[in-house]
Amino acid sequence: MISIVLGAAAGGGFPQWNAHSPGCERARAGDPKARPRSQTSLAVSGDGRNWVLLNASPDLRQQIEATPRLHPHEGIRSSPLRDVVLTNGDIDAIAGLLTLRERHPFTIHATAAVQAVLAANPIFNALAADLVRRESLRLDQPVTLATCGLTIEGFAVPGKTPLYLERSAVPPIGETEEVIGVLVGDGRRRLAFVPSCAAMTDGLARRLQGVDAVFFDGTLWQDDELIRSGAGTKTGRRMGHMSLAGSDGVLAAFRPIDVGRKILIHLNNSNPALLDDSSERAEVEAAGWEVSYDGMEVTL
Ligand code: MLT
Ligand code: MN
Repeated sequence: MISIVLGAAAGGGFPQWNAHSPGCERARAGDPKARPRSQTSLAVSGDGRNWVLLNASPDLRQQIEATPRLHPHEGIRSSPLRDVVLTNGDIDAIAGLLTLRERHPFTIHATAAVQAVLAANPIFNALAADLVRRESLRLDQPVTLATCGLTIEGFAVPGKTPLYLERSAVPPIGETEEVIGVLVGDGRRRLAFVPSCAAMTDGLARRLQGVDAVFFDGTLWQDDELIRSGAGTKTGRRMGHMSLAGSDGVLAAFRPIDVGRKILIHLNNSNPALLDDSSERAEVEAAGWEVSYDGMEVTL
């Protein structure tokens, strides 16, 4: 099983268009230790020819162009992209669907809750219903994709409703169909994709135990980093993301979990672990984690 990180950054990307932070300035200046990253998406294949996309980022068009394996390889119109799996209804997870509107057949797999978000937005009708199937992904039910033989299984993780659908000042964090992780297997190896997670639970730890690779939420280093830098008013928790540092952070949470490769994805432009020469990056690596980057290939 091959996976390619099409985009490693959180919503906004790195650099983010309106961010005037030292890290974003380094990325704009071409500093090799502050590599730009587009918004999160992972492509996975069992045979190297048929591909499943995990989340469709707003940067999808450039991501496909930057990835020769995802170029058309036959006929006058084609694509090796067969399926798209959505882990939530956030803009950075679904906006790329609009890029896929040129009459190419594929299937969108998402929970009923996320399918309802798409159905409520008529702009997604640009994906012609005679070609683009929309399948409801039931939690905890493995589905074998006829197009490529890989099995996908969605499972709820702690999270919240998309920002643009929030109805209260402090939306509840729950384990619902609104935010899921996905296990992808080829019968031999399994990878988990969890780009958004508000907390580690015993159930999630059990679920991830023994997987060959996990791509996990690396949004923030510290819960209050946006507030501290003056870039925002929300904590990571309020945004539905656990942070890397601290006793309840990602690094600590994974210490007792046995995972083949631990890879951070969905890093916000404010996260110092994005910078190759930061002390936070050194800490992340010392804890056995890799920080993903656009174009990173992981073969299991
Ligand atoms: C998130 O990951 O928290 C969201 O992508 C935020 C957003 O929609 O801007
Ligand atoms: Mn996001």
